[in-house]
Amino acid sequence: MSDLEALKDNLLAEVTGAGDEAAIEAVRVNALGKKGSISELLKTLGTMTPEERQTRGAAINALKTDVFEAITARKSALKDAAIAERLARETVDISLPVRSSPAERGRIHPISQIIDEITAIFADMGFSIAEGPDIETDYYNFTALNFPEGHPAREMHDTFFFNPDENGERKVLRTHTSPVQVRTMEAQKPPIRIIIPGKTYRQDSDATHSPMFHQVEGLVVDTKSNVANMRWILEEFCKTFFEVDDVTMRFRPSFFPFTEPSFEVDIQCDRSSGPIVKFGEGTDWMEILGCGMVHPNVLRAGGLDPDVYQGFAWGMGLDRIAMLKYGMPDLRNFFDADVRWMSHYGFRPLDMPTLFGGLSA
Ligand code: DAH
Repeated sequence: MSDLEALKDNLLAEVTGAGDEAAIEAVRVNALGKKGSISELLKTLGTMTPEERQTRGAAINALKTDVFEAITARKSALKDAAIAERLARETVDISLPVRSSPAERGRIHPISQIIDEITAIFADMGFSIAEGPDIETDYYNFTALNFPEGHPAREMHDTFFFNPDENGERKVLRTHTSPVQVRTMEAQKPPIRIIIPGKTYRQDSDATHSPMFHQVEGLVVDTKSNVANMRWILEEFCKTFFEVDDVTMRFRPSFFPFTEPSFEVDIQCDRSSGPIVKFGEGTDWMEILGCGMVHPNVLRAGGLDPDVYQGFAWGMGLDRIAMLKYGMPDLRNFFDADVRWMSHYGFRPLDMPTLFGGLSA
């Protein structure tokens, strides 16, 4: 075997043995690179006689061509193999669901939703929001609201009392949002037009009562507001909130120490079709709120002269109307923090309730 054939066999064996693109590149440099074995042979052409060049030169060039082609073929085969291997390794299962962003997955609790809806309605009527502390003094929760000492209405509230402090004062967890009426009157002069959403507490627990629940209070004080104004506001509210064109409401005489006269308000409804009550139709009545003209003693407690100012107020439980509006059967689920319940009954965070875009769109 000639030296050229031996070199060719060697190089072709190296080509076949090259296992990846880096290895085949090394073979190419060794053979055809500047100092490669074939390049060295080519350099000898200049020293040959013309006859020698014709035979040996042609043989060296043929060797160069063969080896070059073998390397090129092997290179492209290795490249294809590398791509095939990568494709096999980097599989993407396009049938998997796309994972949505936290803003898409999160849910607004129905109570927060209801508060946003009510806020949107009353903000449109020119009301602003007021707040007060959950831990309240006996004075604001009862006395300033015209509950006399020892009055049985204090017992009706099933109050959570704190232990007396060093001054003998017993704080309470507020049993209603009404204390914020007096706090607001003390802080701002009429005209007052506020709603007060918030947490309230009573010792009570079953499928429709929880020891912590939510109310929204409303208060209007100026020099002329009257029962007719109150009635209009509450009717407008109910129509917008329950998303119906018309509601029939019934104002029954009632008693609250902080209003005179006082009313309980029922709304006409249809309970014949299960847990979702229909409003604005039917032959049933459902009590939804208490209201009345603010008692002169309450105005006085707020620092206002009842001969100059008058007003009306109302208070409404939120949890029950949320259950009714959205057909949720058990109040206790509201406070279980169960993600499955939230993803079923919760609301999309980007669907903010507005009067123009829809409350519960
Ligand atoms: N505070 C009352 C309650 O908790 C509800 C209420 C009734 C509030 C009449 C009012 C009102 O402002 O005028 O049951």
